[in-house]
Amino acid sequence: MKKKTRAKQNQPAKVWRGRFESGPSELMERFSHSLEIDRVLWEEDLAVGRAWAKALRAANILTAAEETKIQRALRAIEQEFRRARFQFLPQDEDIHVAVERRLTELAGDAGAKIHTGRSRNDQVVTDFRLYLKRKVNELQALLRNLVQVIVTQAEATEEMILPGYTHTQQAQPIRLAHYLLSAFFALRRHSEQLNDFLLRIDELPLGSGSVAGTAFAVDRKLLATELGFSRVMENSIDATGSRSFCSEVGFICADICTTLSRYCHDFILWSGQEFSFINLGDQFATGSSMMPNKKNPDAFELMRGQAAMAIGILSGIMMLQKGLPVTYNRDLQEDKRAVFELLQITQDCLEVFAGALATCRFRKEKMEAAIDSSLFATDIADYLVRKGIPFRQAHNLVAQAVQHAERVAFCLHELPLHFWKALHPAFDDEVMKCFDAEVSVERRNAIGGTSLAQVQRQLQEAKRWLQQGTP
Ligand code: ARG
Repeated sequence: MKKKTRAKQNQPAKVWRGRFESGPSELMERFSHSLEIDRVLWEEDLAVGRAWAKALRAANILTAAEETKIQRALRAIEQEFRRARFQFLPQDEDIHVAVERRLTELAGDAGAKIHTGRSRNDQVVTDFRLYLKRKVNELQALLRNLVQVIVTQAEATEEMILPGYTHTQQAQPIRLAHYLLSAFFALRRHSEQLNDFLLRIDELPLGSGSVAGTAFAVDRKLLATELGFSRVMENSIDATGSRSFCSEVGFICADICTTLSRYCHDFILWSGQEFSFINLGDQFATGSSMMPNKKNPDAFELMRGQAAMAIGILSGIMMLQKGLPVTYNRDLQEDKRAVFELLQITQDCLEVFAGALATCRFRKEKMEAAIDSSLFATDIADYLVRKGIPFRQAHNLVAQAVQHAERVAFCLHELPLHFWKALHPAFDDEVMKCFDAEVSVERRNAIGGTSLAQVQRQLQEAKRWLQQGTP
């Protein structure tokens, strides 16, 4: 910021100028402006203006002629915005002031009546809620787009089997499609969270004034219908002061980014030479300025990084509120900066993840080659269980075999049949059939398992969900 702090003489009037002798310093002026952030609310602010003018007319605050003038001016302003012709002036400290200023220029005294019984405190949250409804729908579309990519990749890779990991250690074989579809279920949950959120923000703050409510007989129920809210907020203090809707949408966004970040982490590992499970699409990989050999998973790394920022912003949103008195305080202006940024991060991540996943090529041979025969240890224990050995004992026996193999530097499948038979009489030559990834995954055929039938069931569920359209 420049150091010039002295108030300028003859500076343009502010909407709240009345009780002041001088205007604010230029420094204060710049510091308190939020137009650069809240200008994106112009469409919502105009909708709120239209509805409010109607309500004022119905309450006989405006004459029919005045309302007509206002509505006409609001339409003209809308055209100015649509054609990117709207002229902001230095004294427009936020979008609400800018629109009211222009309205008064165009509609004269009628325009000067628009703020009757209204405050920027109820105006801004009404705009914000309307805006979030729109953005949530955009997020829903991006979630669906990503699920479509998951379905396509899962269908194309149904027969691929890779080691399933827990603790980053090989655990049991799984189908790649099973792994990919796990993301569908997580994303569907996020979509449901957003729907729940929509139910909660679907109430109208407008008509709450600054803190105490409005002194004019405006029909708030009609206002709600006009603006597409299903009910009115019943307490003006809660309506103007609460920002828990910011925390809620902030959490959902941070949660979405966190989900994606975990898949990113796997894909980063899988793209490394030691795994080589995936080839990154050129469109979503980057090179090194120094090392000609490099193909880096920057898309996934950036998303993992953005998830960290998303969580930071969520914590900022909550910090903004925790020490604040109950009603409106100017601190709350920061809510939009935070939420807008978080929405942008989330949208970017959903879009980039979809692009990066769609262009990934999975390498069947590398995945299969990575399956160590120790991954079949559970299958061997299960085989003993089918022969009547209690699971705990079976577990113990196979653990001894694993330990022995390790000691003699064998892979588990290299232990000879006589070793198994000596370990326990229940073993027969069937045990050698346990070392088959296909057999192993097909055994997991209860709902939620990794067998082909179960994976196809999940796939159907994902497709059904996609076909349902936006809920
Ligand atoms: N730009 C302000 C915000 O975003 C609008 C509300 C201003 N209210 C006030 N009492 N100064 O919070």
